[in-house]
Amino acid sequence: MTTKIILDCDPGHDDAVAILLAAGNSNIELLGVTTVGGNHTLEKVTRNAAQVLTVAKLTDVPLYAGATRPILREVETAEGIHGDTGMEIHGFELPEPALSVQETHGVQFIIDTIMNEPAGTVTLVPTGPLTNIALAARLEPRIVERVKEVVLMGGAYGTGNWTPSAEFNIIVDPEAAHIVFNEKWPVVMVGLDLTHQALATKEVEEQFAALGTNVGDFVVGLFGAFRKNYQDAQGFDDPPVHDPCCVAYLIDPTVVETVKVPVDVETQGLLTTGRTVADFRSPAPADCHTSVATKLDAERFWSMVLDAVKALG
Ligand code: BDR
Ligand code: CA
Repeated sequence: MTTKIILDCDPGHDDAVAILLAAGNSNIELLGVTTVGGNHTLEKVTRNAAQVLTVAKLTDVPLYAGATRPILREVETAEGIHGDTGMEIHGFELPEPALSVQETHGVQFIIDTIMNEPAGTVTLVPTGPLTNIALAARLEPRIVERVKEVVLMGGAYGTGNWTPSAEFNIIVDPEAAHIVFNEKWPVVMVGLDLTHQALATKEVEEQFAALGTNVGDFVVGLFGAFRKNYQDAQGFDDPPVHDPCCVAYLIDPTVVETVKVPVDVETQGLLTTGRTVADFRSPAPADCHTSVATKLDAERFWSMVLDAVKALG
Protein backbone atom coordinates (compact mmCIF):
# COMPACT_ATOMS: atom_id res chain seq x y z
CA MET A 1 0.00 0.00 0.00
CA THR A 2 1.45 3.34 -0.99
CA THR A 3 0.79 6.49 0.99
CA LYS A 4 -0.57 9.38 -1.08
CA ILE A 5 0.90 12.69 -0.01
CA ILE A 6 0.86 16.36 -0.86
CA LEU A 7 4.17 17.96 0.06
CA ASP A 8 3.61 21.58 1.07
CA CYS A 9 7.05 23.15 1.25
CA ASP A 10 9.36 26.16 1.01
CA PRO A 11 12.62 24.86 -0.54
CA GLY A 12 14.91 25.26 1.28
CA HIS A 13 17.78 22.70 1.37
CA ASP A 14 15.97 20.20 3.59
CA ASP A 15 12.65 20.67 1.74
CA ALA A 16 14.56 19.70 -1.41
CA VAL A 17 15.70 16.47 0.25
CA ALA A 18 12.11 15.81 1.36
CA ILE A 19 10.98 16.05 -2.28
CA LEU A 20 13.71 13.62 -3.35
CA LEU A 21 12.86 11.11 -0.61
CA ALA A 22 9.15 11.25 -1.41
CA ALA A 23 9.69 10.87 -5.16
CA GLY A 24 12.40 8.24 -4.91
CA ASN A 25 10.62 5.82 -2.54
CA SER A 26 8.00 3.51 -4.01
CA ASN A 27 5.94 3.48 -0.77
CA ILE A 28 5.04 7.12 -1.39
CA GLU A 29 2.81 8.48 -4.12
CA LEU A 30 3.60 12.16 -4.51
CA LEU A 31 0.33 13.69 -5.73
CA GLY A 32 1.76 17.17 -5.99
CA VAL A 33 4.06 19.77 -4.52
CA THR A 34 2.67 23.05 -3.20
CA THR A 35 4.79 25.98 -2.08
CA VAL A 36 4.41 28.60 0.60
CA GLY A 37 6.37 31.76 1.42
CA GLY A 38 8.77 30.89 4.23
CA ASN A 39 12.49 30.24 3.85
CA HIS A 40 12.34 32.86 1.11
CA THR A 41 9.67 34.62 -0.94
CA LEU A 42 7.02 32.52 -2.64
CA GLU A 43 8.57 33.38 -6.00
CA LYS A 44 11.99 32.08 -5.00
CA VAL A 45 10.89 28.93 -3.18
CA THR A 46 8.60 28.02 -6.08
CA ARG A 47 11.46 28.42 -8.53
CA ASN A 48 13.63 26.31 -6.23
CA ALA A 49 10.97 23.57 -6.12
CA ALA A 50 10.82 23.61 -9.92
CA GLN A 51 14.61 23.27 -10.07
CA VAL A 52 14.60 20.33 -7.65
CA LEU A 53 11.98 18.56 -9.77
CA THR A 54 14.02 19.33 -12.88
CA VAL A 55 17.30 18.00 -11.46
CA ALA A 56 15.57 14.76 -10.44
CA LYS A 57 13.70 14.45 -13.79
CA LEU A 58 10.36 14.67 -11.98
CA THR A 59 8.79 17.12 -14.38
CA ASP A 60 5.50 15.19 -14.34
CA VAL A 61 4.96 16.00 -10.64
CA PRO A 62 2.51 18.94 -10.60
CA LEU A 63 3.77 22.05 -8.83
CA TYR A 64 1.43 24.71 -7.39
CA ALA A 65 2.23 28.03 -5.75
CA GLY A 66 0.33 28.84 -2.57
CA ALA A 67 0.27 31.69 -0.08
CA THR A 68 2.74 34.54 -0.40
CA ARG A 69 2.57 35.60 3.23
CA PRO A 70 1.36 34.63 6.70
CA ILE A 71 -2.29 35.12 7.66
CA LEU A 72 -1.73 38.07 10.01
CA ARG A 73 1.95 38.82 10.23
CA GLU A 74 4.67 40.26 8.04
CA VAL A 75 6.81 37.89 6.00
CA GLU A 76 9.92 36.61 7.74
CA THR A 77 12.50 34.69 5.70
CA ALA A 78 15.60 32.65 6.58
CA GLU A 79 18.41 33.85 4.29
CA GLY A 80 20.93 33.22 7.07
CA ILE A 81 20.24 29.48 6.81
CA HIS A 82 19.20 29.08 3.16
CA GLY A 83 21.09 31.91 1.41
CA ASP A 84 19.97 34.67 -0.96
CA THR A 85 18.19 32.31 -3.34
CA GLY A 86 16.54 30.32 -0.55
CA MET A 87 18.46 27.24 -1.72
CA GLU A 88 22.11 28.26 -1.99
CA ILE A 89 24.28 25.47 -3.35
CA HIS A 90 28.01 24.77 -3.50
CA GLY A 91 29.69 23.32 -6.60
CA PHE A 92 26.56 22.34 -8.52
CA GLU A 93 24.93 24.22 -11.39
CA LEU A 94 21.17 24.34 -10.99
CA PRO A 95 19.28 23.98 -14.29
CA GLU A 96 16.59 26.33 -15.53
CA PRO A 97 13.20 24.84 -14.52
CA ALA A 98 11.90 22.45 -17.18
CA LEU A 99 8.31 22.54 -15.92
CA SER A 100 5.70 25.25 -15.49
CA VAL A 101 3.94 26.10 -12.30
CA GLN A 102 0.24 25.12 -12.52
CA GLU A 103 -2.29 27.93 -12.71
CA THR A 104 -4.50 26.64 -9.88
CA HIS A 105 -3.65 28.12 -6.47
CA GLY A 106 -1.88 25.67 -4.14
CA VAL A 107 -4.61 25.93 -1.50
CA GLN A 108 -7.26 25.06 -4.09
CA PHE A 109 -5.19 22.08 -5.26
CA ILE A 110 -4.97 20.80 -1.68
CA ILE A 111 -8.76 21.09 -1.28
CA ASP A 112 -9.62 19.57 -4.66
CA THR A 113 -7.29 16.64 -4.16
CA ILE A 114 -8.60 15.77 -0.71
CA MET A 115 -12.21 16.12 -1.85
CA ASN A 116 -11.67 14.03 -5.00
CA GLU A 117 -9.55 11.21 -3.57
CA PRO A 118 -11.27 8.60 -1.37
CA ALA A 119 -11.72 9.82 2.22
CA GLY A 120 -8.90 8.86 4.56
CA THR A 121 -6.31 8.32 1.84
CA VAL A 122 -4.43 11.63 1.52
CA THR A 123 -1.72 12.66 3.96
CA LEU A 124 -0.60 16.28 4.15
CA VAL A 125 3.11 16.83 4.68
CA PRO A 126 3.79 20.50 5.43
CA THR A 127 7.46 21.36 5.76
CA GLY A 128 7.14 25.15 5.77
CA PRO A 129 4.91 27.67 7.58
CA LEU A 130 1.37 26.31 7.90
CA THR A 131 -0.40 29.10 5.99
CA ASN A 132 -1.66 26.98 3.06
CA ILE A 133 -2.90 24.18 5.29
CA ALA A 134 -4.77 26.55 7.61
CA LEU A 135 -6.34 28.40 4.67
CA ALA A 136 -7.43 25.11 3.10
CA ALA A 137 -9.09 24.03 6.36
CA ARG A 138 -10.96 27.33 6.59
CA LEU A 139 -11.96 27.46 2.91
CA GLU A 140 -13.24 23.86 2.86
CA PRO A 141 -13.77 22.55 6.40
CA ARG A 142 -14.83 19.13 5.10
CA ILE A 143 -11.20 18.33 4.30
CA VAL A 144 -10.47 17.97 8.02
CA GLU A 145 -12.33 14.70 8.37
CA ARG A 146 -11.20 13.41 4.97
CA VAL A 147 -7.44 13.80 5.51
CA LYS A 148 -5.64 10.69 6.71
CA GLU A 149 -3.19 12.68 8.84
CA VAL A 150 -1.03 15.80 8.86
CA VAL A 151 2.64 15.00 9.36
CA LEU A 152 4.40 18.32 9.72
CA MET A 153 7.90 19.58 10.30
CA GLY A 154 7.68 22.37 12.81
CA GLY A 155 7.77 23.22 16.44
CA ALA A 156 9.63 21.70 19.37
CA TYR A 157 8.67 20.54 22.82
CA GLY A 158 12.19 21.52 23.88
CA THR A 159 14.18 24.55 22.78
CA GLY A 160 13.32 26.54 19.64
CA ASN A 161 15.68 27.68 16.91
CA TRP A 162 14.27 31.06 15.88
CA THR A 163 13.69 32.22 19.44
CA PRO A 164 14.45 30.30 22.63
CA SER A 165 10.78 29.25 22.56
CA ALA A 166 9.88 28.89 18.92
CA GLU A 167 10.85 27.00 15.80
CA PHE A 168 10.96 28.84 12.44
CA ASN A 169 7.98 27.26 10.60
CA ILE A 170 5.68 27.92 13.54
CA ILE A 171 6.81 31.42 14.46
CA VAL A 172 6.52 32.65 10.87
CA ASP A 173 2.76 32.01 10.98
CA PRO A 174 1.67 31.13 14.52
CA GLU A 175 -2.00 31.82 13.78
CA ALA A 176 -1.95 29.29 10.93
CA ALA A 177 -0.18 26.80 13.20
CA HIS A 178 -2.83 27.41 15.85
CA ILE A 179 -5.54 26.50 13.36
CA VAL A 180 -3.73 23.38 12.15
CA PHE A 181 -3.00 22.02 15.64
CA ASN A 182 -6.55 22.70 16.82
CA GLU A 183 -8.45 21.08 13.97
CA LYS A 184 -9.41 17.52 14.92
CA TRP A 185 -7.38 15.71 12.27
CA PRO A 186 -4.49 13.53 13.40
CA VAL A 187 -1.36 15.71 13.61
CA VAL A 188 2.16 14.35 13.98
CA MET A 189 4.60 17.09 14.97
CA VAL A 190 8.07 16.25 13.69
CA GLY A 191 9.84 19.02 15.55
CA LEU A 192 13.39 20.04 16.33
CA ASP A 193 13.58 17.47 19.15
CA LEU A 194 13.63 14.84 16.40
CA THR A 195 15.11 16.64 13.41
CA HIS A 196 18.25 17.74 15.25
CA GLN A 197 19.12 14.02 15.21
CA ALA A 198 19.13 14.03 11.37
CA LEU A 199 22.60 15.52 10.93
CA ALA A 200 24.26 15.47 7.53
CA THR A 201 27.73 14.59 8.77
CA LYS A 202 30.75 14.46 6.46
CA GLU A 203 30.42 10.64 6.47
CA VAL A 204 26.80 10.92 5.32
CA GLU A 205 27.80 13.40 2.63
CA GLU A 206 30.53 11.07 1.34
CA GLN A 207 27.94 8.34 0.78
CA PHE A 208 26.00 10.63 -1.53
CA ALA A 209 29.19 11.70 -3.30
CA ALA A 210 30.10 8.03 -3.83
CA LEU A 211 26.90 7.48 -5.83
CA GLY A 212 28.53 9.43 -8.66
CA THR A 213 25.10 10.49 -9.98
CA ASN A 214 23.70 13.89 -10.86
CA VAL A 215 21.09 13.80 -8.08
CA GLY A 216 23.75 12.56 -5.64
CA ASP A 217 25.98 15.49 -6.59
CA PHE A 218 23.03 17.84 -6.14
CA VAL A 219 22.56 16.58 -2.57
CA VAL A 220 26.27 17.00 -1.86
CA GLY A 221 26.04 20.60 -3.12
CA LEU A 222 23.03 21.24 -0.88
CA PHE A 223 24.74 19.79 2.19
CA GLY A 224 27.91 21.85 1.58
CA ALA A 225 26.07 25.17 1.60
CA PHE A 226 23.71 24.10 4.38
CA ARG A 227 26.62 23.07 6.61
CA LYS A 228 28.44 26.38 6.13
CA ASN A 229 25.30 28.40 6.85
CA TYR A 230 24.36 26.34 9.91
CA GLN A 231 27.90 26.68 11.25
CA ASP A 232 27.86 30.45 10.79
CA ALA A 233 24.28 31.09 11.94
CA GLN A 234 23.70 28.55 14.69
CA GLY A 235 27.10 27.04 15.57
CA PHE A 236 26.28 23.51 14.36
CA ASP A 237 29.14 21.30 13.08
CA ASP A 238 26.75 19.56 10.70
CA PRO A 239 23.37 20.71 9.42
CA PRO A 240 20.14 19.14 10.68
CA VAL A 241 18.15 18.00 7.65
CA HIS A 242 14.71 18.50 9.13
CA ASP A 243 12.06 18.11 6.49
CA PRO A 244 12.63 14.60 5.06
CA CYS A 245 12.09 13.18 8.57
CA CYS A 246 8.33 13.58 7.98
CA VAL A 247 8.54 11.52 4.81
CA ALA A 248 10.71 8.90 6.52
CA TYR A 249 8.05 8.52 9.20
CA LEU A 250 5.46 7.80 6.53
CA ILE A 251 7.67 5.30 4.73
CA ASP A 252 8.46 3.39 7.93
CA PRO A 253 7.02 4.63 11.24
CA THR A 254 9.55 2.55 13.18
CA VAL A 255 12.30 4.96 12.05
CA VAL A 256 10.67 7.83 13.97
CA GLU A 257 9.36 7.21 17.49
CA THR A 258 6.34 9.27 18.49
CA VAL A 259 4.40 9.91 21.68
CA LYS A 260 0.74 10.90 21.85
CA VAL A 261 0.49 14.18 23.74
CA PRO A 262 -1.74 17.25 23.56
CA VAL A 263 -0.07 20.16 21.72
CA ASP A 264 -1.23 23.75 21.37
CA VAL A 265 0.39 26.85 19.89
CA GLU A 266 1.13 30.10 21.74
CA THR A 267 0.18 33.17 19.69
CA GLN A 268 0.19 35.91 22.34
CA GLY A 269 3.28 35.37 24.50
CA LEU A 270 5.66 38.20 25.21
CA LEU A 271 8.63 35.83 24.97
CA THR A 272 6.95 32.65 23.79
CA THR A 273 4.94 33.40 20.64
CA GLY A 274 5.23 30.48 18.25
CA ARG A 275 5.90 27.96 20.98
CA THR A 276 4.33 24.52 20.52
CA VAL A 277 3.26 23.71 24.06
CA ALA A 278 3.21 19.92 24.62
CA ASP A 279 1.53 18.71 27.78
CA PHE A 280 3.52 15.74 29.07
CA ARG A 281 2.14 15.98 32.61
CA SER A 282 -0.14 12.97 32.48
CA PRO A 283 -1.26 10.27 30.02
CA ALA A 284 -2.87 11.79 26.92
CA PRO A 285 -6.68 11.83 27.02
CA ALA A 286 -8.50 9.30 24.83
CA ASP A 287 -9.48 11.95 22.28
CA CYS A 288 -5.95 13.35 21.92
CA HIS A 289 -5.28 13.81 18.18
CA THR A 290 -1.72 15.13 18.32
CA SER A 291 1.60 13.38 18.78
CA VAL A 292 5.21 14.49 18.81
CA ALA A 293 8.27 12.80 17.33
CA THR A 294 10.96 11.97 19.86
CA LYS A 295 13.65 9.63 18.57
CA LEU A 296 15.15 9.04 15.13
CA ASP A 297 16.96 5.93 13.93
CA ALA A 298 19.48 8.08 12.07
CA GLU A 299 21.28 5.21 10.37
CA ARG A 300 18.11 3.82 8.82
CA PHE A 301 16.94 7.32 7.98
CA TRP A 302 20.05 8.09 5.98
CA SER A 303 20.04 4.76 4.22
CA MET A 304 16.42 5.46 3.18
CA VAL A 305 17.39 8.87 1.76
CA LEU A 306 20.42 7.36 0.03
CA ASP A 307 18.30 4.62 -1.59
CA ALA A 308 15.79 7.20 -2.81
CA VAL A 309 18.50 9.37 -4.32
CA LYS A 310 20.06 6.32 -5.92
CA ALA A 311 16.68 5.35 -7.41
CA LEU A 312 16.30 8.82 -8.94
CA GLY A 313 19.61 8.40 -10.79
C1 BDR B 1 12.53 24.45 9.38
O1 BDR B 1 12.74 25.80 8.97
C2 BDR B 1 13.26 25.85 7.67
O2 BDR B 1 14.32 26.73 7.61
C3 BDR B 1 13.62 24.43 7.28
O3 BDR B 1 13.38 24.20 5.90
C4 BDR B 1 12.74 23.58 8.16
O4 BDR B 1 11.51 23.32 7.53
C5 BDR B 1 13.47 24.15 10.53
O5 BDR B 1 13.25 25.03 11.59
CA1 CA C 1 11.12 23.83 5.19
